[in-house]
Amino acid sequence: MLLLAACSPGPGASSSPAAAPPAAEDHQAFLERHWQRPLAPQGKAPAGVSPQEASLDPAACGTCHQSQFEDWKTALHSRAMGPGLFGQLQEMAADAVDDHQACLRCHAPLAEQEEHLQQALAASPRSVPPRPDGAAYAHGLTCAGCHVREQRRFGPARRDGSGPGAGEQLPHAGWQVSAAFEDSRFCAACHQFESDGPALNGKLLENTYEEWRASRHAKEQRTCQSCHMPDRRHLWRGIHDPEMVKSGLGIETSAPAIAGGDVSSELRIANQGVGHAFPTYVTPHVLVEIGQADGHGALVESTVERHLIARDVSLDLTTEHADTRILPDEVRRYSYRGSLHPQAVALAVRIKVEPDAFYADFYRATLRDPDFKKGRAAISQALRHAEQSSYVLYESRQALPARPTRSMGEKAVP
Ligand code: HEC
Ligand code: HEC
Ligand code: HEC
Ligand code: HEC
Ligand code: HEC
Repeated sequence: MLLLAACSPGPGASSSPAAAPPAAEDHQAFLERHWQRPLAPQGKAPAGVSPQEASLDPAACGTCHQSQFEDWKTALHSRAMGPGLFGQLQEMAADAVDDHQACLRCHAPLAEQEEHLQQALAASPRSVPPRPDGAAYAHGLTCAGCHVREQRRFGPARRDGSGPGAGEQLPHAGWQVSAAFEDSRFCAACHQFESDGPALNGKLLENTYEEWRASRHAKEQRTCQSCHMPDRRHLWRGIHDPEMVKSGLGIETSAPAIAGGDVSSELRIANQGVGHAFPTYVTPHVLVEIGQADGHGALVESTVERHLIARDVSLDLTTEHADTRILPDEVRRYSYRGSLHPQAVALAVRIKVEPDAFYADFYRATLRDPDFKKGRAAISQALRHAEQSSYVLYESRQALPARPTRSMGEKAVP
């Protein structure tokens, strides 16, 4: 992972011994301090730390921590300042810090990113100059957002359990070890609303940590990190990634039967490996279609049954229409029964995922609002992205059993 030779500290590196690991402390206390928002400005780097080591730019971290940087670039955390968010920020005044922070606290939490955003909103967004400290609002949730506080690096212990030893000369003056990085509560800072946060039907709108805590996975010490950062990789795959979604589900369709002129079958979807509700948020829609297909492979519309797996809420977040998400270890069964269509040769099942269904509707409504002005270009771009993120998760076609033809039937009757 890290090659000391390739990332040798160089002449500017700290010569002072790295801080000794703090005594084991309660994770909760550490995390309350670590995620106290708004985050404090980083301030000056300690003497002897080179500008490259002190830089808040993820690419600078990436010169030494290459594998984390390569992974992070492909993760949504690196795109957390997408056009859907930026378009909404453009409608806010450049100095409306509290309004910005209501979003940036999760999407781009560094104090330096807030300053950069203010500059962008006051000028033309794409023409703000880069900052000497490397922070940029457009970087979204960066390495520093999770690992750096007041120019000190925080992270888990090494894989062998050790931390930087006294006298070890490491770049950025070493790091402070905290096992809280391996605790699911680390993620709860942004993936769980406070207990008095917005809720519908008695359930918080963002409740991932509590869903996990109530599940078998919490009891078996399977943390968010163990599924979303396997082998400590900075991947954070979720609903946008078909392979990740498949890894959490068991999907089976029973062989179709014909009886009394009806076709029947059962689709079972087991949430066997998603550590929370599938899906956890109100934003994705999972659409299930079961129906009879003709010899050309086309679904015969009059035979199709449809089901929605989602926490389906109104755009203004005041009404929950339905909550049909599949809870951890729950097995959802959809029984299909329809009269046999003369052209039908197979039973087809299709499961489609729209990861950004809520956002797409929200962007369409936003663009219909004539008072929404500065952010229109960004929101139009976000709508295109949201429409393009859908994919087919599962498809099956099973031939219908051979059935007696009318003439054979007539012969059989004396
Ligand atoms: C000049 C190279 C260099 C740069 C730049 C750099 N690091 Fe490091 N970092 C290291 C080295 C070397 C270690 C020590 C690894 C060891 O001894 O196991 C380290 C250790 C760490 C650790 C602890 C690793 C562990 O095992 O828990 C974290 C976290 C970390 N760096 C984060 C960052 C972040 C975030 C940035 C950018 C803001 C950054 N580093 C920039 C070289 C660098
Ligand atoms: C500082 C806030 C913050 C922290 C801490 C954080 N996240 Fe996130 N996470 C976000 C935001 C914001 C997004 C959405 C990014 C976007 O698409 O704009 C996100 C997206 C994700 C996604 C992708 C969801 C999808 O739709 O596919 C996963 C998975 C995820 N986070 C897991 C984690 C895990 C696991 C941790 C803990 C190790 C964690 N996050 C810590 C803010 C955070
Ligand atoms: C508590 C943390 C948190 C806060 C605060 C927050 N978000 Fe998010 N946001 C998330 C997470 C997590 C996701 C990814 C999950 C999802 O797709 O629903 C997300 C996704 C999004 C997305 C879709 C992905 C993208 O980047 O285009 C938009 C747009 C968005 N948020 C806008 C906002 C706006 C506007 C605000 C402020 C009014 C805000 N968010 C405040 C956590 C947060
Ligand atoms: C959403 C928060 C978050 C972001 C963003 C993030 N990290 Fe991490 N990082 C973590 C967590 C949590 C762990 C510990 C994971 C575990 O123990 O399972 C970790 C572990 C590490 C480690 C130790 C890895 C090892 O194999 O021992 C390094 C080094 C590191 N991160 C560097 C970076 C760099 C560089 C970036 C940016 C390219 C980055 N991180 C972005 C949360 C984050
Ligand atoms: C046992 C493995 C596992 C654990 C533990 C787990 N997840 Fe997931 N997570 C998944 C899988 C699989 C998906 C993809 C299916 C889905 O989107 O629900 C997912 C999806 C997500 C998403 C995408 C958004 C969505 O609507 O589904 C986010 C965000 C997320 N997880 C965050 C977390 C956080 C935070 C924790 C810890 C509190 C956590 N996960 C624990 C397996 C896990």
